[in-house]
Amino acid sequence: MTRPRRLRATPALRALVAETRLHPRDLVLPLFVKEGITEPVEITSMPGVLHHSEESLAQAVREAADAGLGGVMLFGVPEHRDATGSGADDPEGILNRGIRIAVEAAAGRLVVMADLCLDEFTDHGHCGVLDAHGGVDNDATLERYVSMAVAQAQAGATVLGLSGMMDGQVFAVRSGLDQSTANGGAGFPDTAILAYSAKYASAFYGPFRDAVESTLVGDRRTYQMDAANRREGGRETALDLLEGADIVMVKPAMSYLDVLADVAEQSDVPVAAYQVSGEYAMIEAAAANGWIDRRGAILESVLGIKRAGADIVLTYWATEIAGWLGER
Ligand code: PBG
Repeated sequence: MTRPRRLRATPALRALVAETRLHPRDLVLPLFVKEGITEPVEITSMPGVLHHSEESLAQAVREAADAGLGGVMLFGVPEHRDATGSGADDPEGILNRGIRIAVEAAAGRLVVMADLCLDEFTDHGHCGVLDAHGGVDNDATLERYVSMAVAQAQAGATVLGLSGMMDGQVFAVRSGLDQSTANGGAGFPDTAILAYSAKYASAFYGPFRDAVESTLVGDRRTYQMDAANRREGGRETALDLLEGADIVMVKPAMSYLDVLADVAEQSDVPVAAYQVSGEYAMIEAAAANGWIDRRGAILESVLGIKRAGADIVLTYWATEIAGWLGER
């Protein structure tokens, strides 16, 4: 008789036939560096996740490298914001300072990535600059993104995470980075682009918005995708691949595993998925109440994201998971 249970009989058999495995190198840790603090501060809505000072950022990057992670993704929380997000491309802006610190602390042991978006730096909280009617001006924003990209590349980031969902952002940033210095350009042809390709307007970003002290009023539905749309996730990904994305990403992860599977099928470059703040907060809150087995739920959630097709998973638990994997 055919008995699938035969291969489930012992832990060793199950480990042998596991179709999907987690490895620290597949994991990327998002990190927040905040201007004007000297000690790390816990983010209320994300228990266990910190706002880092410049010193504690270096320490977190060293721990991530010791744990064998694939990379870190940096977000900056500035003290001052303005209409155009001028802190974003200021070499002394908090994110660009953070990149330099992380690059030094990483010492080549993991990949330093930076979030490329204006929302943390604008006083209105949108991912781009506004037009005369208060709408997000796509093409004027692209110019800001190119300038931000050059600043991040100059600071030493290896991979830029384009999370703003403006049309044409990958092409614009790729062209801007590629312009040779001989023509007065930036001369960063080797800086890679991780495109947030299928990024949905999601309630699961709530805790992150607390984390970056978002000033947003309203929502991002004119640029982030509608949760109803699966086919469009493929369309956005196809465009980013044409525009030159080196890595494509689906975000959030858990509610979009169908989109992730589609993207993994169609992509000829590595595929990432972002397990976002709300996904983190849900499991932490349930575990804190004793309603769910914390470690089991964390591992299952990340395994599910890999099984759906992600090569790379961004998760706030990256360093902790790597520690667990090392225990076996
Ligand atoms: C936008 C951005 C968002 C996240 C990272 N970068 C989403 C948003 O505020 O719309 C979400 C990350 C998370 O929730 O963990 N630059």
